Amino acid sequence: MDKTPNTPANAEARQVYALRMRADNDRRAMETGRRRKAFFLTFGCQQNEADSEKLAGMAEEMGYDITGTPEDADLIVVNTCAVREHAEKKALSTVGQYKHLKAKNPELIIAMCGCMVSQAHRAEEIKNRYPYVDFVFGTGSLHRFPQLLCERREKNKRVYCPEEESPEVAEGIPIRRESGYRAWVSVMYGCNNFCSYCIVPYVRGRERSREPEEIVAEVRGLVAEGYRDITLLGQNVNSYGKGTAAGWDFADLLAELDRIDGDYRLRFMTSHPKDASRKLIDVIAASRHVARQFHLPLQSGSDRVLRLMNRKYDTAKYLETLDYLREKAPDVTVTTDIIVGFPTETEEDFEGTLGMLRRARFDMIFSFIYSPRKGTPAAAMEPVPPEVQHARFDRMLALQNGIGYEKNQALLGVPLRVLCDGPAKSNPALMCGRTEGNKLVFFEGDPADTGRFVLFRAARADAYGLWGEKLPDRN
Ligand code: 5AD
Ligand code: SF4
Repeated sequence: MDKTPNTPANAEARQVYALRMRADNDRRAMETGRRRKAFFLTFGCQQNEADSEKLAGMAEEMGYDITGTPEDADLIVVNTCAVREHAEKKALSTVGQYKHLKAKNPELIIAMCGCMVSQAHRAEEIKNRYPYVDFVFGTGSLHRFPQLLCERREKNKRVYCPEEESPEVAEGIPIRRESGYRAWVSVMYGCNNFCSYCIVPYVRGRERSREPEEIVAEVRGLVAEGYRDITLLGQNVNSYGKGTAAGWDFADLLAELDRIDGDYRLRFMTSHPKDASRKLIDVIAASRHVARQFHLPLQSGSDRVLRLMNRKYDTAKYLETLDYLREKAPDVTVTTDIIVGFPTETEEDFEGTLGMLRRARFDMIFSFIYSPRKGTPAAAMEPVPPEVQHARFDRMLALQNGIGYEKNQALLGVPLRVLCDGPAKSNPALMCGRTEGNKLVFFEGDPADTGRFVLFRAARADAYGLWGEKLPDRN
């Protein structure tokens, strides 16, 4: 049987279930004078954010209103992350807090989805220890959300849909975007790399790329709707294109998207240093719309650790790519991910990482203490004691704070085009925004500028942000 979800038959199947749910929800609204509401909580990365926007789109298709308050909801969906233990614990404790809501609203349905529940042991744990979770579905079953919800309502029993083995790409799912000017566009799903610490290949399956014409049409539509900042998403966008009919690689895709006229920026994440090609860097350097920002996860500055991590590059290869990037596009902001305290990491290995930070001079790093993930090769390796991990983490941040500070000082006084995100959460009297290099900026401005490009000049900076004024000239 063909269970390819992107065939028209499957898109139709989704709609049939969605309409069945819609009929039920509409009838209920007529009876009670109140429409059913859905609440979504998302943990983890941008891919999960993008998935939640699709789930919310499907919920609207099913006749739910979206609410920001779990207490108001008739359907709660917790979209989980598995990349570190902390994220898993938070998802489990949060779902625990929703249990009592069922006493007030017996019709409330609670679902869990995403990477954490795509692991067999976690799905089993939820089945046994979280009886108030009504249904569970893995990342590969996203498009079956209406069907599973229908089954849950109509059969009134708990539904488990474990991870499907490398499903095809599901197209045509409605998307309810959180923002009217920033958008996520998934270009591929899954990962084939099996870095030894990482759970992603186990919970998101093998790489599947969307056909370029689908992506081009989506981006074209977003630009026409006035979206200003569009991020292409994939676990390893640099290996985009395998198995597609067009046979394009990521550089081809980016070059084609860049041809779309309009006032917008294109970003992409995440890249893998082993696949970040010179061709891609040349496309970025020559582009009109690709933002001057490159996120290139290094993970460790020790060649021995990189081998153990199964990263398939060494520090020399990484620096070669970085140097080429800086030669061709000197204004590019470079950020990275680092894992501290990977199993067997010695003081010398860690010094190697510090050395790479000094040499590469990243604008910002996202640093993580290694977290063992069940079933991954690294989980069986000799752990580094937590106190050593934490001490190294602090040393690394102290070094990077100095570098980030110096990098940001270099931007003082320079007019920068920023996309305004509206009042800052930390201080609503100030507007916040992002530069092309994705640096966070704060300025006195007008909430009406939200979603618009403004010209900004910084007077003060620390390692994490820039403070300054909006210049009179827009654009
Ligand atoms: N422990 C700590 N950090 C991890 N990452 C991935 N897996 C783990 C893990 N088991 C980090 C990597 C990756 C980022 C998204 O999360 O640095 O690039
Ligand atoms: Fe995980 Fe490595 Fe794949 Fe990134 S490239 S998702 S770190 S396995």
